[in-house]
Amino acid sequence: MTRVAITGLGTYVPERILSNQDLERLVDTNDAWIRSRTGILERRLARANEVTSDMALEAAQKALADAGLKAEQLDFIIVATNTPDTIFPSTAARLEARLGEVTIPGIDVQAGCTGWVYGLELGAALIESGHYRRVLVVASDKLSSIVDYEDRSTAVLFGDGAGAVVLEPALPDSRAGILATYVNADGRGADLLALPAGGSRAPASRATVERRLHFLKMSGNDVFRFAVKALPEAVEMGLAKAGLALEAMDLLVPHQANERIIEAARRQLGLPEEKVVKNIERYGNTSVASIPLALEEVRRTGRLRDGTVAVLAAFGAGLTWGSVVVRWGR
Ligand code: UT7
Repeated sequence: MTRVAITGLGTYVPERILSNQDLERLVDTNDAWIRSRTGILERRLARANEVTSDMALEAAQKALADAGLKAEQLDFIIVATNTPDTIFPSTAARLEARLGEVTIPGIDVQAGCTGWVYGLELGAALIESGHYRRVLVVASDKLSSIVDYEDRSTAVLFGDGAGAVVLEPALPDSRAGILATYVNADGRGADLLALPAGGSRAPASRATVERRLHFLKMSGNDVFRFAVKALPEAVEMGLAKAGLALEAMDLLVPHQANERIIEAARRQLGLPEEKVVKNIERYGNTSVASIPLALEEVRRTGRLRDGTVAVLAAFGAGLTWGSVVVRWGR
């Protein structure tokens, strides 16, 4: 079977910063609570007219440049998002139109904050099967478009951002590439984190607007309890599928939802701090984009090098969870 490598990586965050102090002026909260309960100091917010496909385009262009490819050389586009530009058509279609002279298939993947990991699972399978050679897997979310800035329990958590990778067959005889993927879901928890209205279940109406049902709703404690189990499981299952022991993992790049969730998983797995990547303090929870943003940061700072075995592990709405085990390089 063809092994698939990540041959390009690019990310994007908007310029505007929303600090904890800014939030103190919006809702009844305070910097000390946010820091101690979440680890977040600030997050980035897109401009009003900057939408998910705009951020996706920035990240995609950087990933393509990093891979040394032009958009015309791509065969398939996957966009993981929970905040598509429009319910339909897909954000992948809108991104494609912006990428250049390309007429290729594309789809959106919606799997909560695990969406990008799902996207990698699908993208890798498309190449492994021999159906496609070069797949762009984008993560982009404008959470600020669905966050209720009157609800302190969620307003403090989320930020906007995007990331993208190019997947291609690994070089012949290379040991690098995606070693395993693992994804799972338990739909019984679907209402624990959801955008209640705007779909066929509750189409937009005066009542849905008045009841603020076009903003995301989360049962924070329930999701927290799920996350502290799901994150270690995702790591263990991914490594087991790759046939690797925990010690073989050089870096864990977890979804950045809450520093306490990452710490709980780290302790449960018995990992030293230096193996676990955290950058939530500067971006908050950027949903699908949090792992690629963290991945790019560790590459830039030299912690992710050719040969590094990294486990990318996520959890989120659905409920969903999963992981990708990758040996970095081509
Ligand atoms: O990526 C998708 C997955 N999402 C997640 O992983 C989120 C998972 N959940 C969490 O991270 C946490 O549950 C939260 C950060 C959302 C909340 O933290 P918590 O430690 O579970 O707090 P809590 O909801 O149990 O609330 C504790 C107290 C409450 O006050 P009382 O009832 O004890 O008086 C809340 O009203 O903190 C209060 N509170 C706040 N206080 C100041 C809740 N939000 C805030 C706030 N500022 N922003």
